[in-house]
Amino acid sequence: MVRLFEPWPIKGVTIRNRICVSPMCQYSTADGIARDWHMVHLGSRAVGGAGIVMVEASAVHPEGRITPGDLGIWTGEQAKALSPIVAFIKSHGAVPAIQIAHAGRKASTAPPFNGGHPLTPETGGWVPLAPSSIPFGNYPLPRAMQENDFSRIRDHFVSAARRALSAGFEILEIHMAHGYLLHSFLSPLSNRRTDSYGGSLENRMRFPLEVTRAVREVWPSDLPLWVRISTTDWMENGWYPEQSVSLAIELKQCGVDVIDCSSGGLSPDARIPLGPGYQTRFSSQIRQSAEIQTIAVGMITDPVQAEHILVTGQADGVSLAREMLRDPYWPLHAAQKLGHDLEWPEQYSRAKPTVR
Ligand SMILES: Cc1cc2nc3c(=O)[nH]c(=O)nc-3n(C[C@H](O)[C@H](O)[C@H](O)COP(=O)(O)O)c2cc1C
Repeated sequence: MVRLFEPWPIKGVTIRNRICVSPMCQYSTADGIARDWHMVHLGSRAVGGAGIVMVEASAVHPEGRITPGDLGIWTGEQAKALSPIVAFIKSHGAVPAIQIAHAGRKASTAPPFNGGHPLTPETGGWVPLAPSSIPFGNYPLPRAMQENDFSRIRDHFVSAARRALSAGFEILEIHMAHGYLLHSFLSPLSNRRTDSYGGSLENRMRFPLEVTRAVREVWPSDLPLWVRISTTDWMENGWYPEQSVSLAIELKQCGVDVIDCSSGGLSPDARIPLGPGYQTRFSSQIRQSAEIQTIAVGMITDPVQAEHILVTGQADGVSLAREMLRDPYWPLHAAQKLGHDLEWPEQYSRAKPTVR
């Protein structure tokens, strides 16, 4: 049995294999509403055989968008536009998942393909929010969150979770990585608060955990809840893998089922030793030390590499981003390479290579 194609039961959901399409912002909406692009982009990856197709970071509130074109989940209309996409993903045997996000101090920028520069209120942007008034690199100064912002933003996440459920999603992922709002609470480099939300590790974890607990309350107990974290900031005096283990233990207590183990994004000064599978060791560390299921992500491109990650117990599943853009049918091709006889969509069956 090829491990990559072993079914993966989590709570009441059984995923057909261990392959996840990693969330990837498309910056291609007007008013946060999904369109044909999203149907084709996400739908073709379900046709391509992935076990999970995760919809890109979807903003829980307009101020939490990275760019004005981000997908949103702050209105019923946005959820409604996602439902036919969800139905299509399901009809092709994949599990529909969505990542809900607030970009924090990294909000209000132009899309990367338009330069990615920060936008000010004068150029179509807005003032971003953060734990402390410390900018990300040369971005504009964010506003430090005040007392009433905490319950408001927590409620935005909760409403987003409810809407995701109404659209038919079966896995929900909270974005707690890449320097966005919840990650920026965790890291001492971006969180210099002196109240109960800053200082000690316990205090820095407080708001991300409050959000997670509130979301878990409305996300059905038989559906998986995932959290994506940056396992390290790759910075001196920043967030470290050991703290990620402590966080994962706390998240497990909150009813989180899977930790999606990414890294970086908090500081533009980070020096990241990029290379094949450069983050899998953090997935392995969290899986073993926190005894929770994990997803490995980051420069996983080859089926043998993916199989190796699973067989050696570094993760329970793998998530692929750029390689899935290069090849939406990666899972079908991976099966072929690993000698696993995988059913192809019947419309494409005449193109299926013979497995020896
Ligand atoms: C176009 C693009 C958009 C991305 N958008 C998101 C996102 O919405 N949420 C997220 O957590 N990561 C996002 N990422 C990061 C990927 O999910 C993934 O973690 C990263 O690219 C490393 O995996 P890879 O080497 O397989 O590409 C994005 C990456 C790309 C290339």
